[in-house]
Amino acid sequence: MKDLIGIKELSKEDINVILDTAASFKDVLKRDIKKVPALRGKTVVNLFFEPSTRTKTSFELAEKRISTDVLNFSVPTSSVVKGESLLDTVRTIEAYGVDFIVIRHSSSGVPHFIARNVKASVINAGDGINEHPTQALLDAFSIVEKKGGLNGLKVAIVGDITHSRVAKSNVYLLSKFGAHIRLVGPPTLIPDMAGYGVEVFYNMEDGLKDVDVIMMLRIQTERQGKGFFPSTLEYFKNWGLDTQRLELADKDAVVMHPGPMNRGIEISSDVADSAQSIILDQVTNGIAVRMAVMYLLGGAKENA
Ligand code: CP
Repeated sequence: MKDLIGIKELSKEDINVILDTAASFKDVLKRDIKKVPALRGKTVVNLFFEPSTRTKTSFELAEKRISTDVLNFSVPTSSVVKGESLLDTVRTIEAYGVDFIVIRHSSSGVPHFIARNVKASVINAGDGINEHPTQALLDAFSIVEKKGGLNGLKVAIVGDITHSRVAKSNVYLLSKFGAHIRLVGPPTLIPDMAGYGVEVFYNMEDGLKDVDVIMMLRIQTERQGKGFFPSTLEYFKNWGLDTQRLELADKDAVVMHPGPMNRGIEISSDVADSAQSIILDQVTNGIAVRMAVMYLLGGAKENA
């Protein structure tokens, strides 16, 4: 495989290889010297056309830990603002001889388009409302770390499913591993994903009952326009996660959020900071998972 574009295209075996490799890299990250020479001499460019804290910093750290040379492309100070096309921008960067292009873009399908037009390995760091594959991989890694596996787990994914690439990638991944997926939220924000064996709940009390994992989502206001729910106050009242609602889940349930969180709108601060929250473990695990993805794609290219 040259690129990582989406979870949809990966087999269960592919995902297991990534998660096993990430576990080895997590051991490396516990050492005093948290660096391996695996991809020495390779060059990566990070092309973020949308804001990011976690994904961008996590990729950059992963790239440094695996010894690549890193080029951070700044869209606002680039010739993109003078009207240079996406393809000309990418081809210009490829002319430097980069091996990996990590791309985030507000339009769904951009990583697919670039992958078809360059020789470098393309890694999707989030495209529109389509997919965010490394987020789902790090989420799976974090769940397995706490729960020992994915098969048979009851996982509630809560909130703005329609506009969430994180939710889509997680549904594709969890359904391959036999998890029982519940989509919970307002009827206006839950798309038809019946083909993936999901159950739909418009009521938090029913949706959270006895679940093992609660995956909260950010309200994607930048993609929504208006009118999907009456107000943020109303949203929290109906679909926010507070301590009372958390008690409906299994007593050992873990709480996740891909971030950035809107405290008091999607999740209360006491739940976000509780012992059941693994939100910061997700952040930590992102580095090992992204190292694994680059390592495997790099190796695949070497052997091609
Ligand atoms: N989870 C995630 O994609 O966060 P960022 O937007 O901060 O990268």
